[in-house]
Amino acid sequence: MSEETIPERFAGLEVPARLAELIVSPKAYAEQTELHAGFGWLRANNPLGRVEIEGFDPFWAVTKHSDILEISRQNDLFHNGDRSTTLVTRVADQKVRALTGGSPHLIRTVVHMDAPDHLKYRRITQAWFMAQRVKSLEDRIRAIARGFVERMAARGRECDFVRDVALHYPLHVVMEILGVPEQDEPRMLKLTQELFGSQDEDLGRDVAATDDPAAHIKQLFEVFADFQAYFARLTEARRMTPRDDAASVIANALIDGNPISHFEAMSYYVIIATAGHDTTSSSTSGAVWALCENPDEFRKVKADPGLIPKLVEEAVRWTTPVQHFMRTATANTELRGRRIAKGDWLMLCYPSGNRDEDAFEQPDRFRADRDASRSVAFGYGAHVCLGQHLARLEMRIFFEELMTRLESVELAGTPRRSASIFVGGPKSLPIRFVMN
Ligand code: HEM
Repeated sequence: MSEETIPERFAGLEVPARLAELIVSPKAYAEQTELHAGFGWLRANNPLGRVEIEGFDPFWAVTKHSDILEISRQNDLFHNGDRSTTLVTRVADQKVRALTGGSPHLIRTVVHMDAPDHLKYRRITQAWFMAQRVKSLEDRIRAIARGFVERMAARGRECDFVRDVALHYPLHVVMEILGVPEQDEPRMLKLTQELFGSQDEDLGRDVAATDDPAAHIKQLFEVFADFQAYFARLTEARRMTPRDDAASVIANALIDGNPISHFEAMSYYVIIATAGHDTTSSSTSGAVWALCENPDEFRKVKADPGLIPKLVEEAVRWTTPVQHFMRTATANTELRGRRIAKGDWLMLCYPSGNRDEDAFEQPDRFRADRDASRSVAFGYGAHVCLGQHLARLEMRIFFEELMTRLESVELAGTPRRSASIFVGGPKSLPIRFVMN
């Protein structure tokens, strides 16, 4: 967009073109260094900047930790559902609306809802994911974690920690909770990678299609259709014979006294089956990557395993696997002295909030003993991550099991992150290690 076409009220508020390109570039999220430098510049010079970039509707880039919290806690003023909850091009948005008959969302999960529906649907599974309930799974999760640590030991002295361990451990845990049989886990993993890694050359279904936003959306639509085909059968089975699993809870849920609709039940499975493992895998491998690069931190945790809960929190901050969500203003308002108009689209830049100098001392250092509990990696407000207690528990148990056996660990090659602006993290982490 040329200077002349930018409305008067935005004069001087635009994010420089080079940085705007970084924010929307999947490759920048894979590479990280430039992205963090760009976010750092924005926090210092234009913390709530207007992004005007060809192909996208204009949006605000929210880069300060305090602003991300401020927006996330005002769920009536900043809606999830009114526009796409992730940043998409104009063409992609039109394609989604064409496929859905006008909705900006391909599926309808808690993420896409606002009050009053949001709470009604969140309540369906909330009890399953509360800290207390999740804690009761500790023994079972420990047995699974131990199995994966054993599997790592069995590889000898080297492995690709992402592919051999991290991808499979949280997947197995959440699929057990959901009630998906083990033999179907590879299928769930592949579909999740095709969804979140759709812009990555190694993970997407047909990455060539990402150059064409309409073809890309059609592909995502097909991935959802494959998920639905699978979960439709599972729903039928759980309606006939309910079990003690989350699939039975979803299949038999009532909304305002009526059975949950087919589409919304399918959407529910998809969010639990996808959000429930990729993010936790990424944080787990992000921790191992950081420990390889920071041997002093490894020694600290080795000497004091009581630091593991802090290590977990820091790893989630450091990795920030959910890299943004969008919100839409429902009324004219003001933030940081800027006039936000009703209908404006805002991008919550979580990786930036988690490296904000005003929220964390030396934010660009990985410190296993820091208090990173203020991180925005799990979001905040009514939509705060439903699986946060499960994610923390899985990681704590895994590192308790791993650290008692791991004597040393180092990189054995160049790690790589996935190219994605939404959910991303390490996709390959070659390590060399000694275990007792
Ligand atoms: C380290 C791991 C994880 C990270 C970093 C993460 C991050 C996030 C973030 C940033 C949000 C959006 C919050 C907001 O809008 O304020 C979210 C929502 C959500 N997460 Fe997680 N998540 C993780 C693990 C999990 C797990 C294990 C589950 C398993 C069930 C899960 C299920 C969900 C669901 C259902 C929502 C939507 C909640 C709502 O809209 O009410 N997540 N997560």
